[in-house]
Amino acid sequence: MTDSLTIRRPDDWHVHLRDGAMLEAVAGHTARQFARAIVMPNLTPPVTTVAAGEAYRQRIMAALPAGADFTPLMTCYLTDNTDPEEVRRGFQQGVFTACKLYPAGATTNSDSGVTDIANIRGVLEVMAEIGMVLCVHGEVTSADIDIFDREAVFIERILKPLIAELPQLKVVFEHITTSEAVDFVTGAPDNVAATITPQHLHINRNAMLVGGIRPHAYCLPVAKREAHRLALRKAATSGSSKFFLGTDSAPHAREAKESACGCAGIFNAPFALESYLAVFEEEGAIEHFEGFASLHGPRFYGLPVNEAQVTLEKVETQVPAALPGPDTQLVPFHAGESLRWRFVG
Ligand code: NCD
Ligand code: ZN
Repeated sequence: MTDSLTIRRPDDWHVHLRDGAMLEAVAGHTARQFARAIVMPNLTPPVTTVAAGEAYRQRIMAALPAGADFTPLMTCYLTDNTDPEEVRRGFQQGVFTACKLYPAGATTNSDSGVTDIANIRGVLEVMAEIGMVLCVHGEVTSADIDIFDREAVFIERILKPLIAELPQLKVVFEHITTSEAVDFVTGAPDNVAATITPQHLHINRNAMLVGGIRPHAYCLPVAKREAHRLALRKAATSGSSKFFLGTDSAPHAREAKESACGCAGIFNAPFALESYLAVFEEEGAIEHFEGFASLHGPRFYGLPVNEAQVTLEKVETQVPAALPGPDTQLVPFHAGESLRWRFVG
């Protein structure tokens, strides 16, 4: 008999669905596996108003394959000039589920991000008051801080003071990559949680740099050394409700990745659940998979869990070397490898 696992339908608490032809190419992959997703606002131009959030939500709905059952949860991109009342209105009207803090210059399309957290103090106060989640790209951007240290320094310089000053604010420390982040979130109060990507559970920085430079293993925050990966695996599979699924699936055209200045981002949406489940199986923690994928996220956001269920079967699955993109190819995470599980639906 085939082994199989049935769990409540999961959600993805951090995804880049892009726009236009790229959105058309990738939306179905996320909607196939996930009921809802927190959709990142780092378009060009970024999603900074309620009107832009609503228009983007409608473009996502229009790009979904016929019959898809998927709800995009929209986010507002914070800038130095974000109006706290715009954020309040977006949340109260049900357009925005969360706000996204990109330190200016930290990653793809973050040029309009926040240059100093003091500039969004009024917004954060309103968010704390109304119970709206802040999603944080947790890296400092100072040129004098080594890229492998940027997350750990962000905790000390930004996150710890923020949480002390606004103890009501709900904060998701996104796509964590270090043992420092695991320790910080574990020790923080209940209003602080973290998402973890499949890539940071599978690869360390060697995957990027050994035997040639491998742009498809490059994302931000960059993968760190092995001890950090092991700490992330322990946290994700521990059963702690502070850690939940956020793929950070971030598609870029093949030629934009395989370039002298390649874009950051790993496209992991097509086999996301298979990828995560492999980790839980290897760690002997399959019993904690449903919590990580389907229960902890809704609980943190104060949303109902999904009623539908999905099944994964223990059947070897071949990941293609590339998938079709808009006039290009998209190279998925695990390209050319085989995974032990298959998402059935
Ligand atoms: C993301 C992108 O391409 O939009 N890239 C990435 O490496 N994760 C931006 C981000 O989440 O940092
Ligand atoms: Zn991201």
